[in-house]
Amino acid sequence: MLERFDKLLESALAQLASASTLEAVEAVRVEFLGRKGSVAEISKEMGKLAPEERAQTGKLLNAVKQDLESKIESRKGALEEEALNKRLESEWVDLTAPALGVRPGSLHPVTQVQQELEDLFRSMGFAVLDGPEVESEYYNFDALNIPADHPARDMQDTFWLKDGRLLRTHTSPVQVRGLETLKPPLKMIAPGRVFRNEEVDASHEHTFYQLEGMMVDRDVSVAHLIYFMKTFLSAIFKRDVTVRLRPGFFPFVEPGFELDIQCLICGGKGCPVCKHSGWVELCPCGLVHPAVLRYGGADPEEWGGFAFGLGLTRLAMMRYGIDDIRLFTSGDLRFLEQF
Ligand code: DAH
Repeated sequence: MLERFDKLLESALAQLASASTLEAVEAVRVEFLGRKGSVAEISKEMGKLAPEERAQTGKLLNAVKQDLESKIESRKGALEEEALNKRLESEWVDLTAPALGVRPGSLHPVTQVQQELEDLFRSMGFAVLDGPEVESEYYNFDALNIPADHPARDMQDTFWLKDGRLLRTHTSPVQVRGLETLKPPLKMIAPGRVFRNEEVDASHEHTFYQLEGMMVDRDVSVAHLIYFMKTFLSAIFKRDVTVRLRPGFFPFVEPGFELDIQCLICGGKGCPVCKHSGWVELCPCGLVHPAVLRYGGADPEEWGGFAFGLGLTRLAMMRYGIDDIRLFTSGDLRFLEQF
């Protein structure tokens, strides 16, 4: 019997020593001290012993049991402490570390181009004006020489409001507002958001940005127009640009033009970007129509001017090589963070 106790204790302690997790220790406890464990088995067998032998063996078995219990407990304790230490180490917080701070944002690419142009035109004496995005039919159409039955209205798919007002389809209404508030002579630009009921695709959006420009003075000619256009385009593209004018029709200018720039990619030789023409259409413009001057309260006998409407969104696309207009309004940080 004694020998059996020795063996039992020895094997239990060996297993305990190699038990490296709480589960393994528990398995050792069940194997030796559990209801069907080795100690319980020996207790059962003791019924067969003679009474005096039984008492002595019982005492011994109890001692073995107690010894084992306390060793198991202390092994458990050691493992628990080890686990706690590990946790404390991994969850350690350095309260003295500096805070991460707010992640710096950046300006939207259209905003960047807009601000650059505002600075540039201000430096040439232009005022920067703002106009309402919810506009009246009068300023958006009538005062720009586009009467109700004029086919030019159909070209601008308009979001009409129930009260007869509309979301401005272009920044040109600020021409007449500017004439009214600044009075000629004047030089002004008006950047801002415009809206059209367009089918959205890679190059069309229902919401985009334009920059209107106008100069009204005595004896303003197409030469002034070309000068200012060339100057600002060279500044924005950071190199000399060659421009050309083609006739174009807009009811609020006479004569009206489409201004093209020589393709900056191929230098005019022809490439996919300019559709092999060597020229890229950039900006409609012209000399302010006498009717518009009159609507703005300026006498066309005394005053003349030029005006242009630049697609700010398109300019940003060309500047940064963005091939899908929908990216601008996607709110996708992976896109925005590049600027
Ligand atoms: N407002 C016109 C449009 O959105 C563009 C435009 C054409 C503006 C000629 C002008 C201009 O100032 O002279 O289609």
